[in-house]
Amino acid sequence: MMIVPIGSANLPGAQPEQSSHQDIIIVTDAKLADRLPDDLPSDPMHWADAWLKEATAAKVQRNPNSMTIASVGANSQPSSRVVLCKDFVPDPGFLVFHTNYRSQKSLDWTANPRAAALMHWDALGRQVRIEGTIVRSPEEESDAYFASRDWGSQLGAWGSDQSETIASHDVLVSQIRQRAADLGLKLDPDTQTLADDNIPHIARPAHWGGFRLWATAIELWIEGTNRIHDRARWQRDIVRASEHTFSITPWSGVRLQP
Ligand SMILES: Cc1cc2nc3c(=O)[nH]c(=O)nc-3n(C[C@H](O)[C@H](O)[C@H](O)COP(=O)(O)O)c2cc1C
Repeated sequence: MMIVPIGSANLPGAQPEQSSHQDIIIVTDAKLADRLPDDLPSDPMHWADAWLKEATAAKVQRNPNSMTIASVGANSQPSSRVVLCKDFVPDPGFLVFHTNYRSQKSLDWTANPRAAALMHWDALGRQVRIEGTIVRSPEEESDAYFASRDWGSQLGAWGSDQSETIASHDVLVSQIRQRAADLGLKLDPDTQTLADDNIPHIARPAHWGGFRLWATAIELWIEGTNRIHDRARWQRDIVRASEHTFSITPWSGVRLQP
């Protein structure tokens, strides 16, 4: 695949355009060029957002919004796993993902509400690292997202006690079937399809919802030839303003050796 950066309009939110030729992507945003500007931009979250949008439009990989997110538990042991970034909000600067609030990562964040997220699009030669503070999403946002999901995903949130042990896969399937019945869902024997078209309303379980990762540091990395990669890191301070929000200071960036 060839990326053709035109790079004229450095406009926040500018979208990449897909050419009629399947293998050529024409991008019209300087954020998508193969180097960061000499004068580092003051809006790195907008750059990361443009990269995510381009990776999505270019269909470079399954789940272009997947990211590795790391937590550190009370015992100081870091651990990481993949989640899907469901909302990237460059202003004021946080990203959103959803999970089980009783999972291992959630327990880690109860003890230590900090996280590091990593997105990597190999085909585009780009990496984004974001570090910051974790808070839960507002309940109404989690409700709205949960309501937008299909019944299978909704059942998944009820059916699995994420991160807990289980005796076997068969026991897991029995547990899911039982919880589906409790919710009024009639499953076919394969557990994958519904036995009738009558899908009951499924409420969000209180133990499942969104998290916001409020960025305090972001690094943008662009692959270069001969390993002369381009790399810069920005930092800022955030101060808690409410249960879900922070007030922010401007980003301050420095170029790093690769
Ligand atoms: C592509 C991909 C996407 C995933 N998305 C999510 C997600 O959005 N939320 C989630 O809780 N787990 C997701 N998972 C599963 C997690 O990686 C992980 O197994 C699970 O959250 C349990 O992690 P924990 O025990 O460390 O809390 C995803 C896994 C993959 C491979």
